[in-house]
Amino acid sequence: MVAEPSLSELRVADEGFLVASMIERCPKTMMVRELVRNAIEAAGSAAPGGRRVEIGTALIDGIAKLRIWNTGTGLTAAELHRMCDIASSIGKPHGLDGNFGMGAKVASLPSNQRGMHYRSCRQGVVHEVVLAKQGGVYGRLIRNGRDVADVTALALREGRDLRCDWTEVVLMGNHEIQDTAADPYCGDPHSPADWLQRALSARFFRLPEGIELILLDGSAFVPVAPA
Ligand SMILES: Nc1ncnc2c1ncn2[C@@H]1O[C@H](COP(=O)(O)OP(=O)(O)O)[C@@H](O)[C@H]1O
Ligand SMILES: [Mg+2]
Repeated sequence: MVAEPSLSELRVADEGFLVASMIERCPKTMMVRELVRNAIEAAGSAAPGGRRVEIGTALIDGIAKLRIWNTGTGLTAAELHRMCDIASSIGKPHGLDGNFGMGAKVASLPSNQRGMHYRSCRQGVVHEVVLAKQGGVYGRLIRNGRDVADVTALALREGRDLRCDWTEVVLMGNHEIQDTAADPYCGDPHSPADWLQRALSARFFRLPEGIELILLDGSAFVPVAPA
């Protein structure tokens, strides 16, 4: 016999307010480890030998912007749209037991109100969505009437390799001229030259078997075992 529910579940009255307050209260320096965690999880779905995460830069209007790229099953337009929502996991278990479970979008958006550009290549087709803050509201940017765009032709013109699936996020920061690779938090807090190595070492004591993680300077990340 199924027991009668003995409570009525709580819901959210003002979703926009809850989303913005969650995003703005998240410790922003969790950003890189959350993004890299997503990238590592996704790269695990690539074929052995091709499980790769690269942290580099994209040059946007002459300014370097931090870019995290990974192999692994890409996202369709519908999945790319869905993954932007808070607490929306696709193809991985949803749980409250993750170590730093605030999530990449929540951790990254306060520092990237000008945009988190997500692109994903799935079976040779590339889609793009841009998460941003406008007029106090967080959402997907609407460009040419759409919030998810097919950018396959553009990606080909850029010389991108579409023969295997990949996903990337480019972080635009909070200011047009902000180099988000050197200064991911726009000076608050200040980022030392080795900020990336430090942030990753504090989070990843080991990488899953077969995952290669390449840093900004082209070196491979070697986790440091805790003392
Ligand atoms: N780098 C990535 N590569 C491929 N898929 C990704 C990547 N980042 C997120 N996703 C997809 O988006 C979904 C949402 O990500 P999730 O980790 O649940 O939230 P958050 O982005 O808040 O950390 C994931 O279930 C996964 O399918
Ligand atoms: Mg995540």
